[in-house]
Amino acid sequence: MKVFVAGASGALGAQLVPKLVAAGHEVVGMTRTASKQDGLRALGARPVVADALDPDAVASVVGEAEPEVIVHQLTALSGKMSIRDARHPDRSSMAKMTNRLRTEGTDHLLAAGRAVGARRFVAQSFGAFRFARTGGPVQTEADPLDPNPPGALRLVVEGLLYLEDAVTTIEWGEGLALRYGGFYGPGTGISLAPDAVMAALIRKRRFPIVGGGGGVWSHIHIEDAAAATAIAVERGRPGVYNIVDDEPAPVREWLPVLASALGAKPPRRVPRWLGRLAAGEMATVMMTDVRGASNAKAKRELGWELRYPSWRLGVTKGLG
Ligand SMILES: NC(=O)c1ccc[n+]([C@@H]2O[C@H](COP(=O)([O-])OP(=O)(O)OC[C@H]3O[C@@H](n4cnc5c(N)ncnc54)[C@H](OP(=O)(O)O)[C@@H]3O)[C@@H](O)[C@H]2O)c1
Repeated sequence: MKVFVAGASGALGAQLVPKLVAAGHEVVGMTRTASKQDGLRALGARPVVADALDPDAVASVVGEAEPEVIVHQLTALSGKMSIRDARHPDRSSMAKMTNRLRTEGTDHLLAAGRAVGARRFVAQSFGAFRFARTGGPVQTEADPLDPNPPGALRLVVEGLLYLEDAVTTIEWGEGLALRYGGFYGPGTGISLAPDAVMAALIRKRRFPIVGGGGGVWSHIHIEDAAAATAIAVERGRPGVYNIVDDEPAPVREWLPVLASALGAKPPRRVPRWLGRLAAGEMATVMMTDVRGASNAKAKRELGWELRYPSWRLGVTKGLG
């Protein structure tokens, strides 16, 4: 098939393109940055340059490519997030731009896909930290989302909901929204690369366990996330899918293991009140209250198999 990947040069896109090419697809990869075209060629894609927020530019490159499937992997999350941004993602320029890519960017790609007769649309969403903070530690796609997310997360949550609704309700084709867990592995913020942002904080012991560390996180190795996406390009019913590993785990369990894998000292522990004072409400909720996600639907309906079913294996063998 002819597959158009918007965000082909990003953390997920760069893993996805070679998998699509290996599966026999013809891939057109979109970037906004002309100098990244050679990199996209090296991955096996035909590069096109367009700004995802410019509807005419998007219509033009999609119209010329005539894809059967469009994959939306646009975010604006690279670069270092300041402590202030981490406390208030809603005020950070990264989150604001990512929100525009998830709303306006989605609309432009959907409009272009519809106009060109595409029949499938697969988009990046994010699953962690969004479930209602009631019920068990692990939740499915059918479980309710948090009706009252921390204020600093509201903008992010609204953007994700907009994208999921817009994509999964298209009538001209099949729309799938993939709720990835937290990425780790090569090219992400958690890798052995010296510039990996979150890994750097953990190495400096600036990523403590807050309170009891009972917040349950769902992780996903970037290769497994890309493998699930490549399958979703070919099959799977419209809807939302959690793309996470088999072992959602509380912060108090996974953070010390990750720190050790990164060669760092064990994380510090800070009481909840201090965490709240230093890092704000949102970070405290993430550390103490959030729920993890189940991958049963994605395994069942996509037939997806994980190379790193647990972060325990992934952080020892898969950090790159
Ligand atoms: N689930 C998760 O945990 C999750 C999800 C996403 C990202 N992240 C993390 O965030 C960090 C950065 O992610 P990333 O490497 O994917 O980079 P990114 O900077 O967020 O870019 C992602 C892709 O979107 C494209 N893009 C952004 N704005 C665009 C625009 N206006 N027009 C056209 N294309 C546009 C970029 O193209 P260009 O080639 O022009 O840059 C790139 O291909 C990584 O550490 C990653 O692990 C985590």
